[in-house]
Parts: sequence; structure tokens; C-alpha cells
Amino acid sequence: MRDFEVTMQDVPATVATAFESIEGTVPADLAGTLYRNGPGAFSAGADAFHLLDAHAFVAAVTFDGGRASFRGRTLDTPLRASELKAGKQLQRRIFTNPKGKRHLFDVTLPNLAAHDIYVWGGTPVACDAPGHYVLDPETFAVRGPAPLEAVRPNKQATFCPMPRVDTATGRLVIYTVDPGIVRNDLVEFVEIDKAWNVVHRIKHRLPGKAILLHDLAVTATHYVVPEFAHLDVPAVLWGKKPIYACTGFPAGYKARIFVLPRTPGAPARHVELAPGEQVFHLFNAYDDAGAVVVDAIVYSSAVNFTAFAPPYQREGVGSEGAHPVRFRLDLATGAVTRTDGTVRVDSPDVNPAYHGRPYRFGYAAAKTSVGDEPEPEGYFWYHGCTKIDLETGRDETWDAGPRSFCSPAVFAPRVAATSEDDGYVLAWITDAETRRSALVIVDARAMAAGPVATLWLPHALPPVSHGLFV
Ligand SMILES: [Fe+2]
Repeated sequence: MRDFEVTMQDVPATVATAFESIEGTVPADLAGTLYRNGPGAFSAGADAFHLLDAHAFVAAVTFDGGRASFRGRTLDTPLRASELKAGKQLQRRIFTNPKGKRHLFDVTLPNLAAHDIYVWGGTPVACDAPGHYVLDPETFAVRGPAPLEAVRPNKQATFCPMPRVDTATGRLVIYTVDPGIVRNDLVEFVEIDKAWNVVHRIKHRLPGKAILLHDLAVTATHYVVPEFAHLDVPAVLWGKKPIYACTGFPAGYKARIFVLPRTPGAPARHVELAPGEQVFHLFNAYDDAGAVVVDAIVYSSAVNFTAFAPPYQREGVGSEGAHPVRFRLDLATGAVTRTDGTVRVDSPDVNPAYHGRPYRFGYAAAKTSVGDEPEPEGYFWYHGCTKIDLETGRDETWDAGPRSFCSPAVFAPRVAATSEDDGYVLAWITDAETRRSALVIVDARAMAAGPVATLWLPHALPPVSHGLFV
């Protein structure tokens, strides 16, 4: 087995219920729970899935008084149950069509809920664009769809795969996208209180059709959403190719990050990228003296996801690296200035208390060492993590080494923290030599010093899409 293939193995049949060994000391001033979501089971019978089409695996580490406990589960979604019973892939996925089947007019996306996770109303919620599932807080058994279906405008509409909590109001913010047929796409932003009541909603007509959105940031006055691709609807309906193979932009197209007002009256604005650039993820956004500041992760060219497909054969042209970019959008004129960073990163996080507020530090998985992965810029094959000062552009990076793969980084504030970066950076590593995974805890104010604690599991875990500390 090549090193990178250790990241594409099913979660083991028996998942650990505790860490096997701990190097260093778990900080006593780290209190709360780290959640992770991501791919977990890569096949149904003889049918193998693209890494981003795998069934979800959710895990959590709870810290209390210098102790850490682990639990995890492959989600028993309705699709997982039916595919286990059938012993084969039953539904078309974004990256994987079932073998030997034509999918004429098949646009029903399965809900794998494998992309991100949040905690709302006291329960974890696993989520992706087709829908969100509420989980049992202890066992992660799937309880059922999140109480959001009432805001889904129709069966074809999708949800925000990466909701945010607005720090200022304490509300959960999501969006739905109603794909346009005659008119342009309609996005509706929905703000939800702790009891799942809808307390604010506003619709915006997007400037186009078949626009695909991903991440979301919320300022005091605006929602910020990047368009990452357009869908070629006739090609999707024709059904020959997987859905993602039917996405892209026309040559020379400048993708946009939409900046849309939270209340009626103000004009919709956008930030325009350079031709060919692509954005999925945002660090954060905030209002600043008549402007909106947006920190995004920008790929210089379209991301190549084919390296994650079975049988792991790289196809096409490799992706160019992603780097942080700060955009400053003047709300009065629509003029934009941009400042490009240099570190190669993706899957960002910030101190959650600073969402939507002026802030300084971002944390992300970083390209450090290079291993034997076929796609060196591949999202799941980072080898370190970094802290970026978004005001100065300086970064401080920890390198896990060429044979250790590192997950997205999550920031956890220290108990009684006194400053924005007073806390820990948490990331999962998978060591190809021993085929084990570990959680690393790095002091956010001493990144280069490396982990203060490394908590080893007796087995490897599949990669992480996104995580959360609460
Ligand atoms: Fe994402």
C-alpha cells in the first residue's frame, strides 16, 4: 500500500472507544468537545466510491480537566442502511455514478451528510448540501432530518453545506438555493434561534442560473457566499457523467463571491476573482468603515478532484495551490482591493468568538512536506497546519512530515482566554508507517514548537472534511 492510500481506507469495523496512548500532556485548560465529520466507508459491496462520496464518519473528543475521551460512528443514514442491505451503490452521487447504469433525468442527490458538523439545540447535526441530519449526542445514531425541511422551497432546492453561527445574534445562519429554470437562481438566507424557530429570512435573486455555492460567512450587515462552479444542467440530465464532471466555468470566466445584504434596501455586491480562479472556503468576513472585508482561500485554477476517485488514478491536469486572499469591498462604490498571501492552505478556521467581527488570526491545513500522494495539492493530503496573521500575512507552521497526513485545523479557545489566539490548534494526523491516527494539540501561540500532546488511536481514521470545537 502506498502512503496516501492509508487515507482512503474504510473506518475499521470496531472503532476505538478510547485513545491507546498519549505523548505529552493534555492541557487542563482545554475544556469542550472537538467534532469531526468526513468520509468513513468507501464502498457498498463491490462498488467503490470517490473519497467525497463515501458514507460519513462522525467522531468527537471531549476534554475535561486534562483528560480526553474519544467516540465515533459511521452514520446510519437511510442510504447507508439500504446500500448495506443491497450490497451495492443505489444512488447517483456527485462524483460517482453507479456502474453500468444510465442516469437520464436523475437529479436526486443522496443525503450523505458527510461534509460538515454543527451543534444546535443541544445536538450535533451532520450536514451537506442535500440535507442535514440530527444525531444522538452520545451515540451519533441518526435521529432524522434537522427541523429545516419547512424552509426548503422545493425538492430540487439544496441547503447550505456549511452553516455558521452569527456571533453577534447567537443565531444559526443557513441558506437554501432554489435552482432557476426560467428565472435566475433564488437564494434564501434563514436565521434560526436556539429552539429551531425561524427568526429572519430574506431572498436574493442571484445573477445567473445553475450557480453552485459552498461556504458562508456572516457580517453585521451582509451574507458572504462564494460561487465555486456552474452546473451544465443538460449534461447532468443526460446522465452519462458524474455530476461534478458536469460543472465548471466558461474559459476566462471570473467567479464571484456574493456579498448580499441581511436586510432589504441595500444593493447586492460581489467580489470578482481573476479568470480561472476558484473559491470554496472562507476564513471569515466583517464590516469595516463602509467596507466588507472577506478572507477567502483562492485556488489559482480549478481543483482537480479526480485523484480521489477509485482506483486512485490521477487524471487530467493537477490543481494549482490554494492561498489566502483578503478582499476589501467598498460598499458605496463596489470597488475591490485584494491582498494575496503566500502560504498554501485550505479548510480554514478562526476563533469562533470572532466570526463576523474584526479579527487577525486564521488556522488551516497547510502544504508543508510532500509525500507520495498523486495530487500534491489535494485537499485531503496536507502534511501540516498553520496559523496565519491575516493583517501582516505572516504564518507560523507546524510540519507533521512527509509520511503523516494532517486534517483541517480547528481552533479551541483556552479556558479564561485573554486574547484572540489564546488557545489550541487541534488537528488529526494519520501516520502512514504505523497506519494509526492521532489527535495533535498545538499551542496556538507556539505553532512551530509542535504538539504539546499527541493522542494516538489504535487504528487509522479516514480524512476529515470539517471540524468544530464547542
Ligand atoms: Fe467545505
